[in-house]
Amino acid sequence: MTIKTIAVMTSGGDSPGMNACVRAVVRTALSSDLRVKGVKRAYYGLVHGDFVDLGARDVGGILQRGGTILQTARFPDFADPRQQREALRQLNAHDVEGLVIIGGEGSMKGALALHKLGFPVVGIPASIDNDIYGTHVALGVDTALNTIAEAIDKLRDTASSHQRAFIVETMGRQCGYLALMSGIICGAEMTLIPEQEIAAEEVAAAVSDAYVRGKTHAILVVAEGASLAAAALKEKLDEMNTGFSFRVTILGHIQRGGRPSAYDRLLAARFGVAAVETLLAGERGVMVGLQGREIESLELEQVCGHQRRANLEYYRMARMLAK
Ligand code: F6P
Repeated sequence: MTIKTIAVMTSGGDSPGMNACVRAVVRTALSSDLRVKGVKRAYYGLVHGDFVDLGARDVGGILQRGGTILQTARFPDFADPRQQREALRQLNAHDVEGLVIIGGEGSMKGALALHKLGFPVVGIPASIDNDIYGTHVALGVDTALNTIAEAIDKLRDTASSHQRAFIVETMGRQCGYLALMSGIICGAEMTLIPEQEIAAEEVAAAVSDAYVRGKTHAILVVAEGASLAAAALKEKLDEMNTGFSFRVTILGHIQRGGRPSAYDRLLAARFGVAAVETLLAGERGVMVGLQGREIESLELEQVCGHQRRANLEYYRMARMLAK
């Protein structure tokens, strides 16, 4: 079957570069004489028939903007096969013959469900968490890391002025990637991640050691999924004699916003082009991802069947460099 109309949607937590990616999908499709529709508010909009026509001008001026013009939503109900069938009905009613889904791990599961029902889908990994199997890096991770670095650099200024220690909580759900990389690029004394248990006493010893060595500040990066949460860690450290007093900063959703970095803009363009070309080449039920320097596709079944965890080699590196 020759595809004449495709749709594109952004799903799950927004991540910087989604707009640039929508633009790339739309313009690649238009250059192959396809018609393109946007699905508003992710799987919720898909089930409720919220489609808009997208032309070249509709995606003009969005390349550098954070967020997503198509908006996004959490819609756990999509796990229900009745919702999935309703989505198929809406896609058919709008004459859509292929769908590009830009989103995170949960979004790829939705994509796999549609694929299993026989609908042509291609996924694009986009999530600041970098917890998606099948791509070295997901869209938005680089920008989020830059945002975190800027925030921690500022926190270090005030930490040094007061000889304080800051416990900084980063996002990442159950994956410590974002925290671990932040720890390395910001020179944290210690990084706590879900993949590596650590006792509060060991953290206290590292902080105390930093104090004795004459450091005027200490930065502890804590991933949101770590077994010792930021607030609990502060409570414990307050009771131990480390030399520093502690403050907690939860970076929260600022990590998801902002203009995409140069790296993310380029990745968005490459993913967007590859996704449409993959659909047109007749490949279905796959996600495009970055493997080494190349964009390659991997079956969604594979993507969804694996959990991506932070690489503990970076943990070792972070500890070593914190001396
Ligand atoms: O998946 C991206 C993410 O920002 C996670 O890091 C975080 O746990 C979650 O989304 C927060 O979700 P919400 O914005 O729906 O509260």
